[in-house]
Amino acid sequence: MASRKKQLSKRTKMKSATAKTPAASQETVLPLLTGAAIQEKIREMGRQIRADFPGEPLLLVGVLKGAVLFLADLARQIPGEVTFDFIAVSSYGKEAKSSGQVKLNKDLDSSIEGKTVIVVEDILDTGLTLEYLLRVLQQRKPKNLRVAVLLDKKERRLVDVHADYTGFAIPNEFVVGYGLDYAERYRNLPDVGILSLPPVSH
Ligand code: IMP
Ligand code: MG
Repeated sequence: MASRKKQLSKRTKMKSATAKTPAASQETVLPLLTGAAIQEKIREMGRQIRADFPGEPLLLVGVLKGAVLFLADLARQIPGEVTFDFIAVSSYGKEAKSSGQVKLNKDLDSSIEGKTVIVVEDILDTGLTLEYLLRVLQQRKPKNLRVAVLLDKKERRLVDVHADYTGFAIPNEFVVGYGLDYAERYRNLPDVGILSLPPVSH
């Protein structure tokens, strides 16, 4: 019993910031990106964004909730005038893939007309969420509209959208940590890992 526990904790080399709840006790997270690697990449992204828009006020639009940690760290790597706003969307189940139906759950607080907007998203998967968001935001006449994503699962793309700034291209695996969740859990991990669920018993 105790040795099994030990084995498991050895396999999950990542520091877990959470005491495991019953639901999570059978799940393991395999390391993919360390917090240090993420921070280093974000420093580069911040520099690049500022270099592309020197002296320009930037509005970061974070997509709730997954992008909160990324936005917080990215904002601190962009010198000069930066403001934030947040938007929340949900998709009608991953099964209804081709329908591409996305719903706006929380709109921005302020107008983006004439502003340079950077949409900040945790992960680009099918691309349906981002396609919807860009369509909605473009109608509001921003001066510039760009996209920064931390992670990109290119293989999964169903629609032709791309990010202007990408942290890491990752394999087609379900990942958690650093804002990304599984059933709302794991967002608080400082690293990103691949979630491994227990085998389904019959
Ligand atoms: P898309 O519309 O399929 O591109 O999905 C984007 C959203 O799906 C992201 O903002 C995440 O909330 C969620 N998502 C996609 N892949 C993952 C994953 O591997 N882990 C956690 N959430 C994911
Ligand atoms: Mg998200």
